[in-house]
Amino acid sequence: MLKSFGVLCLMILFTGCSYDSVEELSGAACKVENVSFAQDIVPILNNNCIACHSAFALQGDVNLEGHSEVLKYALNGSLLGSISYESGYIAMPSGASKLSDCNISQIAAWIKAGSPNN
Ligand code: HEC
Repeated sequence: MLKSFGVLCLMILFTGCSYDSVEELSGAACKVENVSFAQDIVPILNNNCIACHSAFALQGDVNLEGHSEVLKYALNGSLLGSISYESGYIAMPSGASKLSDCNISQIAAWIKAGSPNN
């Protein structure tokens, strides 16, 4: 009786600990505070979107190169709408899998902060 109580305590302790560390890990891996356009947003766009959306590859007439261009789609809602598969928007990136939750939250956080050129 006493022994199984001890095992139960250990199990609670263990799951408690591992849950905390998973939370800490995902928190550290995904930066959504003070998101920088140059350091955080541009790399996401370069890796996933620029091949189809630059001055040279103007698919859908959308250019995602440079802050002033990206700002247009941040303001009209289609940047976040398309990457979060919202109805009324064409799901992006076209022909590839959805962006990671982390990248989507970073773009959402940057837009919410007023889409700064930082
Ligand atoms: C393989 C090419 C390709 C890639 C990669 C791609 N797009 Fe697109 N995108 C298109 C095409 C083609 C259209 C126009 C679709 C249409 O009009 O039917 C489009 C349209 C859009 C639109 C307008 C959507 C609307 O509903 O008005 C936005 C915004 C957009 N893309 C953003 C992105 C973002 C952000 C990424 C990267 C995460 C991305 N795209 C990656 C090809 C691509």
